[in-house]
Amino acid sequence: MTVRHTQSDEDQVAGTGPRDTMGRPLRDLRISVLDRCNFRCPYCMPETQYHADYQFLKRQELLSHEEIQRIAAVAVGLGVTKLRLTGGEPLLDKTIPDLIARLSKLSGVDDFALTTNGSLLAPIAQTLADAGLQRVTISLDSLDEETFRRMSGNRGDVTKVLQGIEAAAEAGLTPIKINVVVQRGVNDHQILDLLAHFRGSGHIVRLIEFMDVGNRNGWRLDQVVPSRELYQQIQERWPLRAIGRSYHGEVANRYGYLDGQGEIGFISSITEPFCGACNRARLSADGVLYTCLFATTGTSLREPLRNGADDAELADILSRIWLQRADRYSELRKPDADEQPLLNKVEMYRMGG
Ligand code: GTP
Ligand code: 5AD
Ligand code: SF4
Ligand code: SF4
Repeated sequence: MTVRHTQSDEDQVAGTGPRDTMGRPLRDLRISVLDRCNFRCPYCMPETQYHADYQFLKRQELLSHEEIQRIAAVAVGLGVTKLRLTGGEPLLDKTIPDLIARLSKLSGVDDFALTTNGSLLAPIAQTLADAGLQRVTISLDSLDEETFRRMSGNRGDVTKVLQGIEAAAEAGLTPIKINVVVQRGVNDHQILDLLAHFRGSGHIVRLIEFMDVGNRNGWRLDQVVPSRELYQQIQERWPLRAIGRSYHGEVANRYGYLDGQGEIGFISSITEPFCGACNRARLSADGVLYTCLFATTGTSLREPLRNGADDAELADILSRIWLQRADRYSELRKPDADEQPLLNKVEMYRMGG
């Protein structure tokens, strides 16, 4: 692998592979390695719905590492340059270093990241780096113990996550990004504290508007804090300046602190949708390929794979899926709609964030 984020916009927009119906190439494959999680964040897997006897995917339904490697290799052949491992919580798979080692050998990938809730990260961070992972993104919604407990469904411990962040930094899994889902009346009043903590650390905090993914998180528009509102609050305390995106299709709008204490990002899927440059596909743990985070259906790649399809056939299937793609959910949903449309959307922990 080469150094990440080296491609210019033009390279990424040009380059090889199929274009969807809006001319968007396939560049980013997000791979969910399992659907289970040790947290129950109410905005993702509310505890009332995901109780002790909830049926998650069974072992034989999950793709093996070899199967994931084959699909990823085919996707790279079609233009993918960026891989992200997600879940559920990917670090619940104790064999994940093996998968990382396999994927890090794919040539053509210039960015290889993993998203985690950080709770299990500290002891394994160095092993992940040694296996070839480049960086991690850690979800952390609040530094306040009580709020954090609430936002992790009574599961999380802030200290463990902070230890995970520290260990990841020591292992060189950088730049570290900290994902914060902001919900009005839940953690929005603690955002400045969180930013104060990470200013000057080199880690990039990204403030995410609560999204209407899936059907089970009870999303309502009045729980969304528009990025603009947060921006104004932050700007009053620490003046900011916009910085350009670091690669084509980046979901975050980046800002730097004028006093040089680092960078933050806003991910504004609700108030400023970014479908126009969306080059992302998602592979679920049971091998279904989705072309939008808000998809209601996907295409199983596990079936052809287990029925003996060779790489050329897999490439053909993937290519055809991409050529037909017309997704732009966030742009189409009414900006002022205060409830989720009645779609049977696939849950986020299933397809990977
Ligand atoms: P970097 O590669 O570090 O720039 O991050 P990323 O763009 O891969 O983002 P990450 O996986 O950390 O996700 C951050 C937030 O953006 C999460 O809430 C994601 O669900 C959301 N997000 C990522 N991709 C998309 C997308 O294609 N559409 C929408 N609507 N949200 C997305
Ligand atoms: N809205 C916004 N972000 C979400 N995430 C999970 N569910 C939602 C939601 N409903 C975030 C997680 C993680 C990232 C992959 O997606 O916190 O950081
Ligand atoms: Fe687990 Fe992440 Fe979903 Fe929280 S947001 S329940 S940590 S998968
Ligand atoms: Fe891409 Fe769908 Fe998100 Fe739009 S809503 S940016 S098409 S994943």
